[in-house]
Amino acid sequence: GNGHPLASKRLIDKVVVVTGGARGIGGATAKLMAENGAHVVIADILDELGINLANSINGRYVHCDVSVESDVEAAIQFAITWKGKIDILYNNAGIGDIGGSITTIDMKRVSKIVGVNVNGVVHGIKHAARAMIKAGTSGSIINSSSTAAIMGGLGSHAYTLTKEAILGVTRSSSCELGLYGIRVNCVLPHGVLSEMLVDAYRGFKKDATVEEVQQSVSETASLLKGRCGMVEDIAHAVLFLATEESGFITGHNLVIDGGYTT
Ligand code: NAI
Repeated sequence: GNGHPLASKRLIDKVVVVTGGARGIGGATAKLMAENGAHVVIADILDELGINLANSINGRYVHCDVSVESDVEAAIQFAITWKGKIDILYNNAGIGDIGGSITTIDMKRVSKIVGVNVNGVVHGIKHAARAMIKAGTSGSIINSSSTAAIMGGLGSHAYTLTKEAILGVTRSSSCELGLYGIRVNCVLPHGVLSEMLVDAYRGFKKDATVEEVQQSVSETASLLKGRCGMVEDIAHAVLFLATEESGFITGHNLVIDGGYTT
């Protein structure tokens, strides 16, 4: 370090918006970024959880349904009003689904999942990029895909298609926004112990405990013996993509899966 007491903090004075930041992977990332000196705005629909977490990290909470474009625009504007800029956007909000046959797929359900997982990410890139371009600042946008986008399996068709769409818009927007020094990357987690994973598991076994889910995922969903993904595993990768340490990385899909897809 350079002797500055805060030299180990990697995001000093950076302004971050984390969608779906009230809990899970987004919550852990909001916390880690705040510990690294960032001013964090949590944008979510779980108001109580979001407010409590924001208070505990000296951040701010804004109610934001990412499927609603004006909500996302307002969340980014909230950060700019609070701290004068936005440097980093983590488009993490997403909803899971249970499996089911393509022959009986419910198109209302597909629209709902596309609305949150795909439109939500597009809304975020659109309005963060506008603000960054207008301010003439560089920036980093990180999207949340999944290994479901790159590996077959009996998952949800709707969820899979949304996560693959996120790879597409990451690639296309990184090509355009590179002109302004704005980087766009995405993470592809797998088997990370969160409410979403526990809910998905309970779709098969109704009263499964969290310990049971952790045990089962550790045995089947990673190459690393006895290890399932933890929310901090993703948070550390997102922190790297947010900082200038990853300054020459854009349009990249970072798989974080304990080797599952290897
Ligand atoms: P989670 O369910 O614990 O957290 C998701 C967060 O997004 C919640 O706080 C929720 O309230 C928020 N959210 C949901 N709909 C929203 C909306 N319309 N507007 C704003 N916020 C909304 O799930 P987890 O696991 O933390 O998931 C985070 C991201 O990681 C998701 O995009 C998910 O698809 C992705 N992911 C997770 C994996 C895992 O194993 N847990 C694997 C691959 C991807």
